[in-house]
Parts: sequence; C-alpha cells; structure tokens
Amino acid sequence: MTIGIMGAMVEEIEPLLEFFKEYKTIELANNRYFLAKYKGCDIVVAYSKIGKVFASLTACTMIEKFGIEKLLFSGVAGAINDSLHIGDLIIASKLCQHDLDITAFGHPYGYVPEGKVYVESDEDLRDIAKSVANQKGIELKEGIIATGDQFVADSKRKEWIGKTFKADALEMEGASVAVVADALNVPFLVLRSISDAADMDAGFDFDEFLKSSAKESAEFVIAILGRVIEKSKNK
Ligand code: ADE
Repeated sequence: MTIGIMGAMVEEIEPLLEFFKEYKTIELANNRYFLAKYKGCDIVVAYSKIGKVFASLTACTMIEKFGIEKLLFSGVAGAINDSLHIGDLIIASKLCQHDLDITAFGHPYGYVPEGKVYVESDEDLRDIAKSVANQKGIELKEGIIATGDQFVADSKRKEWIGKTFKADALEMEGASVAVVADALNVPFLVLRSISDAADMDAGFDFDEFLKSSAKESAEFVIAILGRVIEKSKNK
C-alpha cells in the first residue's frame, strides 16, 4: 500500500519528516517528494506550496506518478465556528471553494457546471480519525471546510463564508485536493489544526501559532496513518 501525506507549507510536513527520519527525496514538477517506509507501507510526503493550484498539482502528482492509494492532508486553518480555538483539530466532512463565483450566470457560489459545490471526504478515513481521537481522549471536530486563494483576515468575509457555505473552518488547499482525489477515486481526508480566527488578528496569530498547530495536526495524522495501515493489513 502507498499512502500520500500532504501539507501546503514546509512547517506542515517538517514534523512528519522528523518522525519518519529516513527518506529518499525525488524532484518532480517543480517540487520535492519525500519517500519513506512505515509499518511496511510506502509513504509519500510533500508540501505543495500555498493555494489551490499548487495543491492540485501535488495531489495529482502523488496519485498519477507515485501511485498513492489514500491521501491524507495535514495542516492549519482559520476558525469560523466560534467553538474552534487555536490548536483544536477538525476533519472535513466535506469541502467547498468559497472563491469560486459564477453567480452572474445564476449559479450558486462555489459551483461550476458539471462540478459540485461540496466534495465529501472518505467516510472510512473519517471513522478512523474519530476512533483514534476517542481512544486518545482528543477532541476532534468534524465540519465543513471552505477553501479559497485568499488568506482571510477579515471578520466580514469570514462570516460571509460561514453563512454561505455553513463552513466551520477555512484554508487555502483542502477543496482542490478533494476535487482531484475524488475525480481520481482516491480516498482522502483533510485534517487541520486551528492557527487563527480569520479575523483582523489572523496574520499575527498565524505567524505565532503556525508551527505549534501544524505539529498538532501532523502528530494526529501520524496516529491516523498507523491505524489506516493496521486496518489495511487486517482486510
Ligand atoms: N490557513 C490558516 N489560517 C488561514 C486564514 N486565516 N485564511 C486562509 N487560510 C488559512
């Protein structure tokens, strides 16, 4: 089994590379892919760079060139739901693109013809995440994650995204990874730890909490990975 783990920024995958310790580096499509082995599985780790286009490219490369069979995304997000605080973990039930807008033609926000507003993440991976959280006594929220090519640092914009998409958190890559993985039939999970509240303090909070929140997410994704591998062996 080959499993991909993606982040957007180097800070989001550094804890993973530290965990795997030994890995081979392959350069492809203007990016680096780190190949490790864990519990008898091949693991491909990469950070895409920020935003939907780079994230799509990396997800697609992982699937098409490295043959990953499952894709886990780990990183940080801005909170929309007031119950989410810095360091809290959230898995996406489904994801949408908050900046996709052809409403001028009568379509809903986040929709283009032959696409869909929401892409659902894999239920088995979500169940595994919830059971790992339960076992570890970690609080894990499940909710809608909205993605766009904007760092949101504005309460009005955040509230609009929350209201329009019923979104609980926002970030800049998840939905694009979801579109790619869904189209190519690769089960995926997007996990995020909160780094800021997407409000006027977001830039400051992001800088302050990126590393610690990214580490929270990476540590949890490693626990999920262990369970995913165990489950695949028992099949
Ligand atoms: N990722 C983490 N915080 C974010 C924010 N405020 N806007 C967009 N992406 C983010």
